[in-house]
Amino acid sequence: MSHQDELIATDILAYLDAQEHKSFLRFITCGSVDDGKSTLIGRLLYDSKLVYEDQLAAVEHDSKKSGTTGSKPDLALLVDGLAAEREQGITIDVAYRFFSTDKRKFIVADTPGHEQYTRNMATGASTADLAIILIDARNGVQVQTRRHSYIASLLGIRHVVVAINKMDLVDFSQHAFNSIEAEYRSFAEDLDFEEIVFIPMSALDGDNITRRSERCEWYDHKTLMEHLETVEITKARNDCGFRLPVQWVNRPDLDFRGYAGTIAAGTVKLGDEIIVTPSGQRSKVKAIVTQSGELEEAQADQAITLTLEDEIDISRGDLLCSKGNPAEQSDQFAAHLIWMNENMMFPGRQYLLKTNNQLVSATITELKHKVDVNNFAHEAGKTLALNEVGVCNISLAKPIAFDPYKDNRHTGSFVLINRQTNETVGVGMLDFSLRRAANVHWQALEVGKPERATQKHQKPAVLWFTGLSGAGKSTIANFVEKKLFDLGRHTYILDGDNVRHGLNNDLGFTDADRVENIRRVSETAKLMSDAGLITLVSFISPFRAERQMARALMDDGEFVEIYVNTPLEVAESRDVKGLYKKARAGELENFTGISSDYQPPRHAEIEVNTVGTSAEQAAEQIVDYLTEKGYLLVR
Ligand code: ADX
Repeated sequence: MSHQDELIATDILAYLDAQEHKSFLRFITCGSVDDGKSTLIGRLLYDSKLVYEDQLAAVEHDSKKSGTTGSKPDLALLVDGLAAEREQGITIDVAYRFFSTDKRKFIVADTPGHEQYTRNMATGASTADLAIILIDARNGVQVQTRRHSYIASLLGIRHVVVAINKMDLVDFSQHAFNSIEAEYRSFAEDLDFEEIVFIPMSALDGDNITRRSERCEWYDHKTLMEHLETVEITKARNDCGFRLPVQWVNRPDLDFRGYAGTIAAGTVKLGDEIIVTPSGQRSKVKAIVTQSGELEEAQADQAITLTLEDEIDISRGDLLCSKGNPAEQSDQFAAHLIWMNENMMFPGRQYLLKTNNQLVSATITELKHKVDVNNFAHEAGKTLALNEVGVCNISLAKPIAFDPYKDNRHTGSFVLINRQTNETVGVGMLDFSLRRAANVHWQALEVGKPERATQKHQKPAVLWFTGLSGAGKSTIANFVEKKLFDLGRHTYILDGDNVRHGLNNDLGFTDADRVENIRRVSETAKLMSDAGLITLVSFISPFRAERQMARALMDDGEFVEIYVNTPLEVAESRDVKGLYKKARAGELENFTGISSDYQPPRHAEIEVNTVGTSAEQAAEQIVDYLTEKGYLLVR
C-alpha cells in the first residue's frame, strides 16, 4: 500500500489516528455479466494500491495466458479468481472487499450479476449506502439495469452512481452518454433515490475511475473515486430515535444485569430515559459499558452493554428505545417480500420470522400483488417464486417491536425461515402495521374445553388421515366413526370432498390452494377439538409442512397422524372415482401422485397398510390405539 506511506514512516500514531477517524462508505456494484463489474472493482483495488506485488504479477501472467485485454493486465482476473472459488464453494453468495484511500474507508459488496442472483444482490444491498449501477455504453439501459435499480431502491439505497462504462468503445460520445442518462432518469422517477450521478468511464483503461480522462473533455465533474470519497450519505432514514435490539442479557452475578447488543439507530447518554418495547416498561440508563471501558454516550453501530436504574424484566429480542420516540408494536403487517428459495412461497403456510434477535411463527395471510421488477408493474398472483418480489400481509403468533423499514433498515427488516429445513427463504421489509388484531380480543368463556371433554367422557383428539386419493382414508374413517359412535363417543368427520363443497368451494388443486385448504380445515378441527369432540379429518393433505402446522395448532398429544399407506399402483387400480384414468389421459391437472407431489409422513402415530388389511381391521387398529392411549375415558 502506498498511500500515506510517508505518514507511516514519520508518525505512525498520527497515521493510525487518521485511519481510525476516516468515515466509512459501504457500496454495492451491480451490473450484467459483461458490463465490466469485475474490471471496475479490480481497477478500484489496483488504483488504490491495494493489490500486492505478487498478486499483480500473477494477474499479468494470467492476462497473457487467458485474459481478454490484449497486452494490458486484465484486472477482472483479480476479482474473478475469487468468483470462481465462490462458485465452487457455493457457500458465499456475496463477497465483501475492503479498501481505503487517504480520505475514506470502503466496503464493497460484490454480487454475481445473473438474473437468478437477485437474492444475492438483495443481501449485499441491505447494508449498502450507495449503489454503482454499471451500464455498457454500447447497450444502454437493460432489463437488468431496471431490476437492479428497483432492488436497490426497495432496500433503502438512496445514492446511485450510474457508471456508463466501455465509453472507449463508443468513442467517448457525449451523445451516447446523454441519451443513456435521459433514459435512466425517466424510469428512475418512479424509484426512491435522492441523488443519481452519471459518470462516463472505461474501467479497463482507467478513464474517470481515479484519473480524469483526457479522452472526454466534455465531462467536467468528479471521477468515480472522487465521488465515492466525498459523497455525503443522508442518515435521515435511521433517525427514528435510539434503538438497541437486545441480543443477550448479561448476568454474571446477582449485582450486575446488562443488556448487550449493537445500537441500531440514534444515540444514548447516561441518564437517558428509555422504554422497553413491546412490554412498555420504563427506566433510566445507569451505565454504558463497552470492551474499552465505560462511556458517557454511544451511537449507532456501536456494540454496547447497558445497565439500567431499575430491575425490570427484559429478554433477548426486546427493543430498548428512547422514551420520547418508542418503536411500534404489532402482530399484523403489510410488507414487501423478496422470495429467495426454489420452493415457492404459499400464503397460509407457516414460516419463522426473524427480526431484531426475535424468532416468531409467521404466516403470509395474503399476497396483495407481485411486482414486475422490470417495469415496476403490479401483477396479480397467488404465490412467489424464486427471486420474485411481492407485497403481502403477514400475521405473527405474537406481537413484536419494530419500525417501518423506511425509518430504520435494521429494526424494519426481517428474514423468513423454512421451519423444516431451517433455510432462509425470504427477506422482507416491514411497511406498516395493520392494526387488525389490536382491536380483536380473545373472548373468555365460562365453559371451557376441559368441561366439555369431561362431560363427553373423552379426551378430544384430531385423527388426521393422510394418503393418496383412493387410498381408503374416508372408508376407514367412516368405520372408525361408527365404532366410536357405538361406544357412545362424540365425533365428527371432516372429509376433503365434502368440505370442498362448502367452506372450501373456492379452492382448486394447485399447491397454493392445497395449502389454504389444509389451513382452513386445521382451524376447523381445532374448533371442534375445543368443543370436546374427537374429529376425524380425511384429506389427502400432501405436504409435510401443513400437516406439521396442523399438529402445532393442537394441544400436546391431541393430534394423531394416521398414514393410510396405499401404493400408487394399488390406488390407481382401484380408481373408485375414475380420476386416475382422467389424470393419465391428461384431462385432470395437478393430480396427486401423478402430476402433483405427495410427501409421506415420517413419524405418523399410526400407519395402516391397506394391502392385506381390510378397512375394518384398520379401523380396529385405530380404535385400539385410542383406547390404549387413554383417549376414551372409562365411565
Ligand atoms: S388436498 O390435497 O387438498 O388435501 P383433498 O383431500 O381436499 O385434497 O381433496 C381430494 C379429493 O378431491 C380427492 O379425493 C378427489 O376426489 C378430488 N380431486 C379432484 N381433483 C383432484 C386432484 N387434482 N388431485 C387430487 N384430488 C383431486
